[in-house]
Amino acid sequence: MSATRVLVTGGAGFISSNVVRHLLETTPYEVISLDALTYAGNMENLEDVITHERLTFVHGDVRDAELVRRVVAETDVIVNAAAESHVEKSIDEGASEFVTTNVEGTQILLDAMRSTPVERFILISSSEVYGTAESDPMDEGHPLNPRSPYAATKAGADRLAYSYFVTYGLPIVILRPFNNYGPRQHPEKVLPRFITAALADQPLTVHGDGHASRDWLHVDDHAEAIEAVIAADLDAVAGEVINVATGVDISVERIADLVLDALGKPSSLKVHVPERAGQVDRHIGSTEKAKRLLGWEARTSFADGGLEQTIEWYRANEAWWRDALEQTPVHA
Ligand SMILES: NC(=O)c1ccc[n+]([C@@H]2O[C@H](COP(=O)([O-])OP(=O)(O)OC[C@H]3O[C@@H](n4cnc5c(N)ncnc54)[C@H](O)[C@@H]3O)[C@@H](O)[C@H]2O)c1
Repeated sequence: MSATRVLVTGGAGFISSNVVRHLLETTPYEVISLDALTYAGNMENLEDVITHERLTFVHGDVRDAELVRRVVAETDVIVNAAAESHVEKSIDEGASEFVTTNVEGTQILLDAMRSTPVERFILISSSEVYGTAESDPMDEGHPLNPRSPYAATKAGADRLAYSYFVTYGLPIVILRPFNNYGPRQHPEKVLPRFITAALADQPLTVHGDGHASRDWLHVDDHAEAIEAVIAADLDAVAGEVINVATGVDISVERIADLVLDALGKPSSLKVHVPERAGQVDRHIGSTEKAKRLLGWEARTSFADGGLEQTIEWYRANEAWWRDALEQTPVHA
């Protein structure tokens, strides 16, 4: 029997490159990484695995229906993670690319799957679809109140995927990961922005009073959750929405302090700037459903190793983040 072929879209980005590496290391799957290589996609993220015999890289856009149809025809499982992913960019530069990549790109993949069926389609949605926590912890039944254009496009793709499960009976699973962190995250995102600023003795800008809190998920734990969804009994997961969370939240202010402490930098580097439009106050995910359906729970705690390992990666890979910063002005 031939190996399962897993298409990971956005495969040169932060989460997907870590997922590609994880699947190559821990499973016998063949992996196809499809990426348009926007400012956020970086072939260096796949440098150590690009010659792997079970990896194929396709440079292409999820909005290219013909290409997508061809790639999907050679695929058993789709993990759709390609996206415009930066909240501030969606606010400052407009939502157009977010709508086309995040919503239309998902629709094109779903339609390709209607003409050439696959075994399962895993949509990487986002906890951002919930908006600010109305309950503690937030479970999958929490209302959807996206507060930024980015979050609204993720909610659109999330519900579009669900509708293809209901309407066409397609094998769709929707994951709602909370805030990921770890190696290879673009320095536009808050934790690498803090780490790289501190390493360069630059200010760490905190929005508002910094009380906004997030549930911080290590990207390796996220990759394990995706592996568990691919392996799960389809009847148990088809049509389901599953949070990928730790159940612990930490404020952005505290994160800035922890980064400065860990690097032995003065607290004077921390500066407060006006609150971000569309800010989400609090995120804390319920972990119960992922445990019940997937037998998965996060193994890496932020305070106990996760932050240290991430800081070490940025310390050891200064050329990587300096290049990324040069190519993209960071939206603070
Ligand atoms: N980072 C987080 O904390 C987080 C949390 C929850 C959900 N997510 C979701 O996880 C996924 C990955 O996030 P990330 O942080 O790794 O993002 P990222 O910005 O690092 O990577 C996105 C990748 O998608 C590619 N891409 C963009 N537009 C494309 C297109 N039209 N066609 C093909 N490829 C395209 C980019 O080149 C890049 O490699 C996204 O769907 C995001 O919404 C991220």
